[in-house]
Amino acid sequence: MIRTLKPYHIIFTFLFLISGCNNGPFAIKERSEIERKIDSILNSLTLEEKIGQMTNIGMTALCKGDFWTNTDSLELDTAKLRTLIGKYKVGSVQNKGMYPPSREEWNNLTRAIQHYNTNDAKNKIPVLFGIDAVHGAHYTAGSTMFPHQLALAASWNTELAKQAGEVTAYELRASNLAWNYAPCLDIASEPLWGRFYETFGEDPLLTSEMGTAFIRGHQESHYGKEYSAPVCMKHFIGYGSPQNGKDRANAIIPMNYLLAYHLPPFEAGIQAGAQSVMLNSGAVNGIPGHANKNLITGLLKEKLGFRGPVISDWADIEKLVGVHRVAKDKKDAARIAVLAGLDMCMVPYDAGFADDVLDLVKEGQIPESRIDDAVRRILRLKLEAGLFEQEKKDPDYKDFGSARFAEMSYNAACQSIVLLKNEEQILPLSYNDKILVCGKAANSLNALNGAWSRTWGGSEKKYNDENKLTILEALQNEFGEANVHYLELSQETGLPRPLELEKWSKWADKVLICLGEKQATEKPSDIHELAIDEAQNKLVEKISRFNRNIISVLLIGRPRIVRDIEKVSKGIIMACLPGPEGGRALADVMSARFNPGGKLPFTWPGYSGEKWTYYHKQADEVDENFGMNGFNPQWEFGYGLSYTSFTSELLSIEKDTLIGNDSLNIRVKVTNTGSVSGHEVVQLYISDRVASISPDMKKLLAFKKVFLKAGEEQMVHFVITSNQLQFIDSKGDWIAEDGDFQILAGGNPKDMSSINFYYKNSK
Ligand code: BGC
Repeated sequence: MIRTLKPYHIIFTFLFLISGCNNGPFAIKERSEIERKIDSILNSLTLEEKIGQMTNIGMTALCKGDFWTNTDSLELDTAKLRTLIGKYKVGSVQNKGMYPPSREEWNNLTRAIQHYNTNDAKNKIPVLFGIDAVHGAHYTAGSTMFPHQLALAASWNTELAKQAGEVTAYELRASNLAWNYAPCLDIASEPLWGRFYETFGEDPLLTSEMGTAFIRGHQESHYGKEYSAPVCMKHFIGYGSPQNGKDRANAIIPMNYLLAYHLPPFEAGIQAGAQSVMLNSGAVNGIPGHANKNLITGLLKEKLGFRGPVISDWADIEKLVGVHRVAKDKKDAARIAVLAGLDMCMVPYDAGFADDVLDLVKEGQIPESRIDDAVRRILRLKLEAGLFEQEKKDPDYKDFGSARFAEMSYNAACQSIVLLKNEEQILPLSYNDKILVCGKAANSLNALNGAWSRTWGGSEKKYNDENKLTILEALQNEFGEANVHYLELSQETGLPRPLELEKWSKWADKVLICLGEKQATEKPSDIHELAIDEAQNKLVEKISRFNRNIISVLLIGRPRIVRDIEKVSKGIIMACLPGPEGGRALADVMSARFNPGGKLPFTWPGYSGEKWTYYHKQADEVDENFGMNGFNPQWEFGYGLSYTSFTSELLSIEKDTLIGNDSLNIRVKVTNTGSVSGHEVVQLYISDRVASISPDMKKLLAFKKVFLKAGEEQMVHFVITSNQLQFIDSKGDWIAEDGDFQILAGGNPKDMSSINFYYKNSK
């Protein structure tokens, strides 16, 4: 058995040695220049000015009307500017009102605030504008929206995540915004939790790979520095696994699980240069994310060496009082959070936090050195974002909202579609088919986009882009209006009128039922059960009485229980939340213009009471007859079909014993054995046969997406090292133990080829 350095020890040592690492967007020289500037700015600031930098308010706190005023315009209020920017020197402003401003409005608003800050308030430090651009810069009217993160993850194509990062940063900059509260690097293991779709799914490696690709694209865009912008990874840590399935609740996660499954994406994000982090609004093991000094200061800042600012989530200081009950009042909460390591508070309604922190420092309850550390981190972010540089005169950002960017979103939507069932080759549709289309997601752009689309909840129709196609419209374009009939649902019952249902179901050769969820995020996205609602279940069941050629298309942000629907559907497609090009992408999958090749980034439970991740223990698989057949999800992690067929053969491993820190070369031959070209994702897993802590059934080590013509084959090469054989022991250390391991490779979980090898720590 060997003990090795944890990955974060290595990072920390490295950072310490060179005092500023070379990863991420900044070279060493540039970094030390930035550090000098930070010192000189910090030395010039009063305590009040420093605390102002730590304060983040919502845009509407500076505008006329109430914070939540529901209007289609925003007008700055000079009195509020005078107080918040002038007096309190608030250093950052985030998000917007209830509507999506145009690019021009964003530019006017942010420039006016910046102008007030530097001229009237005489503040040398530019204001930083933050925004939730979680699938494109969607809060700017006319911008490009991408599939949500979960859909992107189903593409298993990191290049698409990188493109989404680049385009998002480009369009944020076009809107004069410089800081994105994305990506979401939470591991989603609880499908009741409504923000499941905002993640890259259940797997630490897939999340890390997609997340770092997004971060690199966003922060180091090939379009150039003025088109890049800092990200904010969220929500550190354990947010995606609440014990009761509700948003912002308590998670019970033992330390070895937190380190093994939840930490790696954040660790990878730091290595990729991510410039800020947002905290978990809930709690882990009873300790609220905003009060957990061990995790924020101990793990994130000291062990991982994270040098950017740690920001709160929305109003989370006051939640330490009224929700988590670990503080007696807001001032006590501010003390707890700042001492735990919080650097910036998303207040966001007023500057109460600044008053409290000022008193706390004057009373000696918070040392000024803690404030200096926080402000250093914030200044670092602002300098790295280029805020102090001369603003470029009207860069034209000609690609904003362009057809070129829309094509990227379309391509991402196509690649994220997962074909889950295709009995009797019901798909693709034929141009002669008479197609009946129904379901609440069939004729709705909102169902494609989900929440965080122009508005927070994403359900307002009036902000939809008129030139985008719903699934119905795209199908009519593709197959002709005469061949596509739309069956309307009644508002009251959620079902069609019975006679209509019977008549059109009998008319159709094939029926496409588009099932969806309500558009929501955060608390409103909480659900009580995983079963799909009764009306939608009934719709499928009633149609199946008259037509057996059903294709169910799932526009949902998490796995829902579709056991009964599956039984009566010959075709099933998981489209997740594919974004505004999703209608077109789906029509092209239906017609086989695009051959689907997505794979599930999560395990799909068959029953509400069974929640699985693929990385569970063998004991979890014992069935009621004491056999090992208890793991029967509806569909497994990594599953997805195609209109063609593939084989993956684990050809060879270089040697049958891996010794010490050596590496092992692995070759997998993947062949398109069908008759059309298509994508396959070759997945490589490891299974530790015996370990001192019950090993996971398997662990994803690497993957590669390939595109092969009919009959074509390709050799895929992987290298694994002993680091990848490690697990976290009971003391929290990463270790690899001598013994037998199995490598599994293939494009689908039920169809893996395997080879065993032995690992020996030393010669
Ligand atoms: C959400 C965050 C988001 C923040 C700012 C919070 O309520 O949890 O994900 O970044 O609001 O809008």
